Amino acid sequence: MRVLGIETSCDETGVALYDSERGLLADALFSQIDLHRVYGGVVPELASRDHVKRLVPLMREVFARAGVAEGEVDGVAYTAGPGLVGALLVGGACARALAFAWRVPALGVHHMEGHLLAPMLEASPPEFPFVALLVSGGHTQLVRVDGIGQYQLLGESLDDAAGEAFDKTAKLMGLPYPGGPEIARLAVSGTPGRFVFPRPMTDRPGLDFSFSGLKTSTLNTWQKCIAEGNAGEQTRCDVALAFEQAVVETLTIKCRRALKATGLKRMVIAGGVSANRHLRDSLQAMAASLRGELFYARPEFCTDNGAMIAYAGCQRLMAGQHDAGGIEARARWPMDQLPTL
Ligand code: KG4
Ligand code: ZN
Repeated sequence: MRVLGIETSCDETGVALYDSERGLLADALFSQIDLHRVYGGVVPELASRDHVKRLVPLMREVFARAGVAEGEVDGVAYTAGPGLVGALLVGGACARALAFAWRVPALGVHHMEGHLLAPMLEASPPEFPFVALLVSGGHTQLVRVDGIGQYQLLGESLDDAAGEAFDKTAKLMGLPYPGGPEIARLAVSGTPGRFVFPRPMTDRPGLDFSFSGLKTSTLNTWQKCIAEGNAGEQTRCDVALAFEQAVVETLTIKCRRALKATGLKRMVIAGGVSANRHLRDSLQAMAASLRGELFYARPEFCTDNGAMIAYAGCQRLMAGQHDAGGIEARARWPMDQLPTL
């Protein structure tokens, strides 16, 4: 089965063609980061309008690069949520119209299921069951995964998502949007141990997270440095490193707990923050210490992309699932409401 995948949930327009026999045929992405950067975050209306402009040229590019005639697909998958409703509607309307014209089924895919399954596009994909850490701009969740659609939520953030904490902290320090890659870049030159921030909620049992207090500690430290006239480039790097280390260590402690609690050995990390080098290294070491294994996608498939939607959609379409006639667009959509395969 060959599936066209369309992702438009936030500030990236992603399109891909996935073939169940041949794997990923082509994918293309347009990132709106430059468009939103001047505003310090995503402006929903601008995002929707830009998806309208980018979608058709990206689809043409993907068909051409795959050497597939336009419309030679068995289904169209699009992100139906969670995300910005206006942005979702652009991808959904486009997908539905094409599916209607090409007389193939359309399916609305859950964005976080797309992220969760992105490591399946790599050369040695994880087998079920595994524990997944989903860390994106909008979500921080630990999930036990027994198969597609078999998701048991083990823990989640009670306030900011990990990516959101990176983005907000970066903004407070005067860094551009999105803050995750900026903080990661500065942290490389940071001095270990100059600042140490709390590891929130690690001193009590449970698998939930909270990152808003960490953001405040970081802000207080940064403001103190400014007041002392000591907020130069090196201090910025040192604060960035201390913040990143606190997030990474907190996530690692909870992932270790989740593996121990479930007795599982395979750990998957997915979503934009899983592109973070220090997080990957730390989880790799943790998994190895438990004789387990860590799986993640290549960096461009950690952040939003069309390939993960084409892949997830293909699995469900192959199982005979598809939408009724309407366009699905949901701002919120709990992942444990998804049907199993
Ligand atoms: O999954 P994603 O592309 O979009 C959402 O579904 O939210 O995740 C975007 C998030 C942003 O918060 C961004 O700052 C963060 O992922 N991010 C990173 C890194 N690359 C992206 N955070 C930390 N380190 C990175 N290298
Ligand atoms: Zn995402």
